[in-house]
Amino acid sequence: MKLHPDHSEFKSQLKDLAGSVERHLSECLNGVSAPDQLLKAMEYSLMAGGKRIRPILCLYWGGMLGLKQKQFIDFACGIELIHTYSLVHDDLPAMDNDDLRRGRPTNHKVFGEAMSILAGDSLLTHAFYLMSGAGLPPDDVLFACREMALAAGPGGMVGGQVVDIMATGTSAMDLKTLKKMHAMKTGALIRASCTCGAILARSAGAGQGDLDNASSFGTSVGLAFQIVDDILDITGDQESLGKPVGSDESMDKATYPKFLGLEQSMIMAQSCADKAKESLTGYKGPEKDFLESLAQYIVDRIN
Ligand code: IPE
Ligand code: IPE
Ligand code: MG
Ligand code: MG
Ligand code: MG
Repeated sequence: MKLHPDHSEFKSQLKDLAGSVERHLSECLNGVSAPDQLLKAMEYSLMAGGKRIRPILCLYWGGMLGLKQKQFIDFACGIELIHTYSLVHDDLPAMDNDDLRRGRPTNHKVFGEAMSILAGDSLLTHAFYLMSGAGLPPDDVLFACREMALAAGPGGMVGGQVVDIMATGTSAMDLKTLKKMHAMKTGALIRASCTCGAILARSAGAGQGDLDNASSFGTSVGLAFQIVDDILDITGDQESLGKPVGSDESMDKATYPKFLGLEQSMIMAQSCADKAKESLTGYKGPEKDFLESLAQYIVDRIN
């Protein structure tokens, strides 16, 4: 099934889902006793919109494998806190030095660098508070939290950001390293969003085979996601992206289009999406159909 960007039924489903994740997100800092300015800075970036793809992936993998949303919506929201922290830090002057994110001035532009570093730290820490409180068997929750820590940490997202920063402005990069960098900085969290859905669904009957399928789906979709992010930095428009275009070129970042050109990069992203869809062949039902459409949407998206 080829999804086109005007695939309106899927897109309205995605919008509804993002809305329901957002309602939970708006409650997840309730009752936290913290300095006002810190909470404001956290909420500013968290509640600024965003596609909410990572929690949605987690909810759909868990849902396809038999979990009810209310059993792990807090866990899924925790993933969005980790992702939001990564964006706040990614935009800092010491990193990508960007001024616009999710259609708003970046966090440090509004709250200052110190507060935005601390808001990022707090989002990351509070994420683990939320995730570890999931009302599912403690062994599964612990396993999923460890999976998420590995994905977000030095061997995953943070490590990938380090490779990115070290390669910026140099020509010391080859395609293999670029792929690895994308798999780490973006792929790891997307992959773990899927695998954590499968891990948390063990009490509903999910097994190692499901975990392997979630892992290969997430790995492929994660790589496609960052390749398309690189493409949109060239072909997108600021209005729909909610972030600047041309940022990668002006920073001299290592990207897929820089290495392969736009057309080959798009072919690569599509082949990742096709591979992701293969991991779904053993499943059926509305969740499977949705995940298949989501894999294609990640390639066809304009923001
Ligand atoms: C942007 O992620 C950063 C990357 C890892 C490529 P998203 O494109 O998911 O950003 P939001 O959450 O929709 O703002
Ligand atoms: C960011 O990659 C990956 C993260 C872990 C945040 P980019 O630097 O390309 O993300 P954007 O384009 O600023 O959203
Ligand atoms: Mg970056
Ligand atoms: Mg960036
Ligand atoms: Mg980018």
